[in-house]
Amino acid sequence: MNFRHEINTILIIGLTFIIHSCSDQKKHSKTIKSPYTSQIDSLMNLMTLEEKIGQTVMYSGGWDKTGPKVSDDNIKHIREGNVGAMLNVYSAKGTRELQQIAIEETRLGIPLLFGYDVIHGHRTIFPINLGLAASWDLKQIENSARIAAEEASAEGIHWTFAPMVDIARDPRWGRISEGAGEDTYLGSQIAKAYVKGFQGNDLAANNTIIACAKHFAGYGAAQAGRDYHTVDMSDGELWNTYLPPFKATVDSGVETFMTAFNDLNGIPASGNQSLFREILREQWNFKGFVVSDYTAINELIPHGFAKNEKDGARLAMNAGVDMDMMGNVNRLYLKKLIEENKVKKETVEEACRKILETKFKLGLFDDPYRYSNEDREKEVIYKKEFLDAARNAAAASSVLLKNDNKTLPITKNKTIALIGPLAKDKESIIGNWAAAGDRYGKAVSIYEGLLEYVDEKNIFYAQGCDILSNDENLFNQAIDAAKKADIIVMVMGEHYHMSGEAASRTNIKLPGLQTTLIKKITEEVPNKQIVLILMNGRPLDLSEEHILTDAILETWFPGTMGGLGIADILFGTYNPSGKLPVTFPRNVGQIPIYYNMKNTGRPINPSNPKEDYKSNYIDVSNTPLYPFGYGLSYTNFEYKVTSSGKQLIPGEEITISVEIKNTGNYDGSEIAQLYIRDKTRSITPPVKELKGFKKVFMKKGESTNLTFTITTENLKFYNQQLDFTYEPGRFEFFVGGSSDLPFTHEFELIEEDK
Ligand code: GLC
Repeated sequence: MNFRHEINTILIIGLTFIIHSCSDQKKHSKTIKSPYTSQIDSLMNLMTLEEKIGQTVMYSGGWDKTGPKVSDDNIKHIREGNVGAMLNVYSAKGTRELQQIAIEETRLGIPLLFGYDVIHGHRTIFPINLGLAASWDLKQIENSARIAAEEASAEGIHWTFAPMVDIARDPRWGRISEGAGEDTYLGSQIAKAYVKGFQGNDLAANNTIIACAKHFAGYGAAQAGRDYHTVDMSDGELWNTYLPPFKATVDSGVETFMTAFNDLNGIPASGNQSLFREILREQWNFKGFVVSDYTAINELIPHGFAKNEKDGARLAMNAGVDMDMMGNVNRLYLKKLIEENKVKKETVEEACRKILETKFKLGLFDDPYRYSNEDREKEVIYKKEFLDAARNAAAASSVLLKNDNKTLPITKNKTIALIGPLAKDKESIIGNWAAAGDRYGKAVSIYEGLLEYVDEKNIFYAQGCDILSNDENLFNQAIDAAKKADIIVMVMGEHYHMSGEAASRTNIKLPGLQTTLIKKITEEVPNKQIVLILMNGRPLDLSEEHILTDAILETWFPGTMGGLGIADILFGTYNPSGKLPVTFPRNVGQIPIYYNMKNTGRPINPSNPKEDYKSNYIDVSNTPLYPFGYGLSYTNFEYKVTSSGKQLIPGEEITISVEIKNTGNYDGSEIAQLYIRDKTRSITPPVKELKGFKKVFMKKGESTNLTFTITTENLKFYNQQLDFTYEPGRFEFFVGGSSDLPFTHEFELIEEDK
């Protein structure tokens, strides 16, 4: 054993003794801010300033490329105690090797944190997050995160950069695929479900991982849907629409936050003290740590906010950004900034403390290799129950947008023409941000899914066209297949690279010649039913497809078991129950368009939409093609809604009783949604807002009873003074299976007795 190693061993024994002896102390000490304060104090007393700065540094291991540059010599930086965390490294072996260097070859042996973008699965990939949101199934979403944490933690990962909780109303923005869509209430409930699924109840358990609320804040409002673009909005819009899902993660105990790339009202998020010091820490009492997004600190320079990288490091650390992801600025400049009194040593020490606290919470000081266990890795990855859950999630996330003449479900004896560039796809089906998912081997294509229900000889496959090209050479094969079959199933959409980060589109129609092919088939093979199955990472303009086809199933990117889950829908094993978490516009010109817009001073008159001098277009209706909350089923549900009263007194409640009857021929789930409208308030109210939802399963012919409760809590908003409050006045509400239904009840919130 070399001298250095012996010293290290003595130090580690000494350090372990100090830490454990402090833990003994903690039993007798009276007031400790956190269970680890004394242990952290002892450790930090041993650390040099450079080692404390080292904890605020994160480099990429290059097992995946998720940003514009990759690291230089990570091993050297780790050995020198200059690294606190690594991203884009996974597998028990890979993480163990780097951890071994940190533990055995640095002066104090402080363990590394390993982070990765496990946002809709690690190996078993679930539908993209916009798809999972379409299930409106909080338990299922939580379970998808639980499974992701099981697999990721088995491969040495301690930290996922999820949930992405950016509200997004612009389908041009590629990252709309990663979130929960356009609604603040739905997004907040889903955010909580992800944090609970990833973090569980015990971070020291070896199957839980820390979560990361991102991207704080306002990233989804990038101008023109162009990624990384400017964000400029009122405080009212920020607080009423974009911040609540982040607050929901803090209330759920999220351990970390990540900065957004964008500037927000002129102050880039990664240098924004108002966001990270005032709101996140002082108002919301967030105790975890903040990591910058990938080189986001360096990007303060092109933003025109920092003079150089050193200035960027100063601005970010002083704004409350504790860790520098891949920017290499903390390591290079913090010590100098402290010496120049531009950053306080205490600020850096506080950042270091929070990062160490997270490592203690994860149990890494007890056993730094507990998550890098190759036996557990073999036992956990791709468990059958995980794959079954992914299959069910693929079905539950799909939204039936059209189904004329009961085209679906398909009877098994029919021959099928399976056409389209995504029909046999095993690459895009798991979508973007698919972590360590296996795109070509494990993923089940739509074609393979059909084979579970139909004999191969009854499927006539033809690719028909590419996703992107203008090549018509494969059209004729597709037409021939269509002529031979009883029914035509076309699988079309986007390549997975066409959504996600740095993947904005100005045109949100089906790319390439896909729509042309549909048209050609309707001309050459008239009067034959066409089912369009879509795989895409954003709402698309389906105005033409809506006319050309008989049924449309939106599957987003349905994940590793997507082919089976979608086949379960096509053949009626699973009755589609998904509801849109985001509006589908008639065309890109309507954007932004979302269900809870404002009424304006000249709202159109629905009975006379063309009336002059109203807020409308001369070429297209104001309404979307498919609204938020919409989704068809193979059965029908009838609602009876009653209210307990027409007056609400602060401190009391109104009970809404809902009876839903499954009146069709299929068992199925319905997502009952409660929308409320505040008729008058001190800042203009949206025309409606989702304030509750419940997913219920009913056998055919069965009824079920639900209740919703309205109190002043449901009616609060941030007013002009940014007080979170409610105001007396008239309200109306309805409960139903979509946002575009009429109001059926009203009540008055009475003025409180002063
Ligand atoms: C990327 C993304 C962020 C991700 C991070 C690490 O640039 O913006 O969402 O978590 O870098 O991969």
